[in-house]
Amino acid sequence: MVEFEVESDAPTASLPTVVDAAALRQAVAELRRGGQRIGFVPTMGALHAGHLSLVELARQHADRVVVSIFVNPTQFGPDEDLDRYPRTPEADAALLAGAGCDLLFLPAPEVLYPNPEVADRAAVEPGSAARGLEGARRPGHFRGVATVVCQLFHLVTPEVAVFGRKDAQQLAVIEQLVRDLHLPVEIVAGETVREADGLALSSRNRYLAPSERQAATVLSRALVAARRAIRDGETSAARVRRLLERTIAAEPRVRLDYAEVVDADSFSPVDEIHDRVVLPLAAFLGETRLIDNFALDPQALRAEASGALSPTEKEIPCSA
Ligand code: PAJ
Repeated sequence: MVEFEVESDAPTASLPTVVDAAALRQAVAELRRGGQRIGFVPTMGALHAGHLSLVELARQHADRVVVSIFVNPTQFGPDEDLDRYPRTPEADAALLAGAGCDLLFLPAPEVLYPNPEVADRAAVEPGSAARGLEGARRPGHFRGVATVVCQLFHLVTPEVAVFGRKDAQQLAVIEQLVRDLHLPVEIVAGETVREADGLALSSRNRYLAPSERQAATVLSRALVAARRAIRDGETSAARVRRLLERTIAAEPRVRLDYAEVVDADSFSPVDEIHDRVVLPLAAFLGETRLIDNFALDPQALRAEASGALSPTEKEIPCSA
């Protein structure tokens, strides 16, 4: 086992780190001793407060927390940013040591992909939730995600795994995977952590030039406008989509890829907004592609607007 020495208030703080499957199994067995529940947060590193909030949530649902950092090549398309994806392992280890992580799994690529002929290897086919939106624009992306998440689940064997609502379609794909394949793990969803001006934290935000960073706030502003319209009684998905498109079109540095209104469970498009929906969108700022979404419960929103909810119920966040 490698120990990452990290700077923190406690001078001897270090994060137990394993890099291969055998060491991982042994370390997990030790963590589990005495019936401790294992919580797991898979990541691709370049960690920020959004990732750390998932570690915190995992702590609330489990006794021990394992985090993995692996920039998974099979979920990147040939023209995507695999080579320049940020890699900051020392900073990540320091953040995790201070966030209540018990074990870091940092596999070398050959641990998960010993055979470079990826096409020859077994893979996991995701279900219908992977069809549209990101799945349609990034062929093979969710197959890569589903495969690596299955590999990681089998290696880490967690009771609970935590995923962010920031990647809402990924969450739906994983929930369907666990349901359809009867994987013995409970999936917990964490709310999206945002900057003060609304921009959702993302490892890719560091690609943005200052003017692009400023322009990127239009994504969450568009979502806030759409949420307001739905709260005020708008039920037409087409009109909400047009509102999102119009708001984003007003910012010339941003090129919209898609803005949709989908059912929260199936992730298929809806015409009328009555039940829980997700408003996912993707946009380019220069070369950088960002995604964001709001998950909304129209009935709760409208009840809140009409003052029908008690103050306590009003405090329940609606994943904005
Ligand atoms: P990555 O992009 O590193 O994200 C790891 C987890 O952090 C995901 O569950 C993601 O939804 C969550 N996350 C990202 N930004 C967040 C934010 N601002 N607030 C809250 N949570 C946030 O998603 C992946 O890695 C990979 O696809 C992975 C699942 C690890 C498989 O390779």
